[in-house]
Amino acid sequence: MSKTVELIIDGKHYTFPVVEGTENELAIDISTLRDTTGYITLDLGYKNTGATKSAITFLDGEKGILHYRGYPIEELAEKSTFLEVAYLLIFGELPTKSQYEKFTDDITKRTLVHEDIKKILDGFPSNSHPMGVLSSLFCAQTAFYPESLNPNRPPDGVYLSIIRSLGKMPTFAAWSYKNAMGHPVNYPDNKLDYCSRFLKMMFALPGQDYEVDPVVARALDQLLILHADHEQNCSTSTVRIVGSSKASIYSAISAGINALWGPLHGGANQEVIIMLENIRKDGGNITKWIDKAKDKNDPFRLMGFGHRVYKNFDPRAKIIKKAADDVLNKLGINDPVLEIAMKLEEVALKDSYFVERKLYPNVDFYSGIIYRALGIPVDMFTVMFAMGRLPGWIAQWKEMRDQNEPIGRPRQIYIGHKKRAYVPIEQRQ
Ligand code: CMC
Repeated sequence: MSKTVELIIDGKHYTFPVVEGTENELAIDISTLRDTTGYITLDLGYKNTGATKSAITFLDGEKGILHYRGYPIEELAEKSTFLEVAYLLIFGELPTKSQYEKFTDDITKRTLVHEDIKKILDGFPSNSHPMGVLSSLFCAQTAFYPESLNPNRPPDGVYLSIIRSLGKMPTFAAWSYKNAMGHPVNYPDNKLDYCSRFLKMMFALPGQDYEVDPVVARALDQLLILHADHEQNCSTSTVRIVGSSKASIYSAISAGINALWGPLHGGANQEVIIMLENIRKDGGNITKWIDKAKDKNDPFRLMGFGHRVYKNFDPRAKIIKKAADDVLNKLGINDPVLEIAMKLEEVALKDSYFVERKLYPNVDFYSGIIYRALGIPVDMFTVMFAMGRLPGWIAQWKEMRDQNEPIGRPRQIYIGHKKRAYVPIEQRQ
C-alpha cells in the first residue's frame, strides 16, 4: 500500500499521499491542501518545497552526490564532452555516434547570428556588464525568430530553437566580451570544436594569429560539464516559471541568465576572486576574514562557501579544485590566490561556525581560479557559468513543456493593511 500522511487541523483529519522518487526521496503531495482544508503552506525561499517531478538531475546534498540522468558527475567530467552531456540532459540518453555527429553538426551550422545583432550590441556602452548584454542578446532572438513565440510549436520547431540556443550562445558570450573591450567582434570559426570556437571568438585580435591551446579548450569543456545542470536552483526555477506562462524559450532562458547573475547564485564566482584578491592585498590574514564572515553585524560572507542543498562537499568543487591545480601546472602559472583559497578552505573547514552550519566550498570557490588561468576576465566568469548551464535550462524548460505543467503561481499570506477608505490628497497629513 502506498504511504500517506495525516494532518490534523482543529481535530479534523486529512490524508495526503506521499510521493517517492527513484532515489527514495519523499514528498507530501499537498496539491489538494487548500481545497480540502483552506490552508496553504508557507516556505520562504522554497526550502522545503518540491516544484516539480523531474527526471533530469539527481542531487543528494547530505552525501555530496550529483548525477545527470543517472550518470555520476565525476564520470561525465572525466570521460564525456560538453555537447554529449548537453544531448544527455536535453534528450534523456547518451547519444549514439550518429546522433552525436548530427547534433554537433546542427549546432555548428547555427553559430552565426543575424548581422542586426551587431547593431543591438553597438547600442550598449562598452562598460556594460557582459551578463546584461548576454541576457538582452539572448532575448533579442524572439525578434529574429518570431515563430518561437508560438506556444504550440511542433517538435521540429522546438528542436530548432534548442540548437539555435546552443549554437549562438558562445557567439553572444564572446561578443559581450568584445563589447566590454571596445574591440571588433570575431565570427565563429566552424572548423573548430565548441569550446575552441568560443575561445577564438573571445581572444583573437585583428591581424594576429590565434592558436587555441588544447589544454585550455579541454579545461573549459570540463568546467561547462560541471555547470550543465543543478536541478531546481534559482535560475532554473526562473526558466521553468517563465516558460510555464508559455513565453518563448529565448525569453525564459534570458530570464534564467538574469537570475544567475546575482552574487548569491552564479555571480559568486566573480565575487570569490574579488574576495581572494582583497585578502591578498590586505596582507593575507585568513583569520581576520574568517572572523568577518562569522560576524553577524558584518555583511561580509565567505563567497564560494555554503550551499542551499549541499550539507557536505559539493562534488563539483572537489573536481574543480583538482582541475585548478592541473591547469595551473600545465600552463605553468603560479597564481598566489590559489594558495589563499586553499588556506581559507583549510581554516574554515576546521572552524566550528562553518562545521556546525555544514558550510563547505561550492562550485564557485575554485572555478574563478581556473577561468583566470585560462585568461578569462572576472566580469566574464558568470557568463561562462551561463554557457555551461544552458543545456540544463533547455532540458528543464523542455521537461516542463513536455509534462504540460500548469503556470507557476505561488500563493502568499497577506500581512498588509485591512480594507480602508481612500483619503483625498488635500486631507492627508
Ligand atoms: N559565509 C558565512 N556564513 C554563511 C555563509 C557564508 N558563505 N553561507 C551561509 N552562512 C550562514 C548563514 O549566515 C546562516 O547562519 P545562521 O544560521 O547563524 O543564521 C547559515 O549559514 C545558513 O545560511 P543561509 O543563508 O540560511 O543558507 P541559504 O541556503 O539560504 O543560502 C547560500 C545558501 C549559497 C546563498 C549561502 O550559503 C551564501 O550566501 N553563500 C555565499 C554565496 C555563494 O557562494 N553562492 C554560490 C552558491 S553555489 C553556485 C550556485 O549554484 O549558484
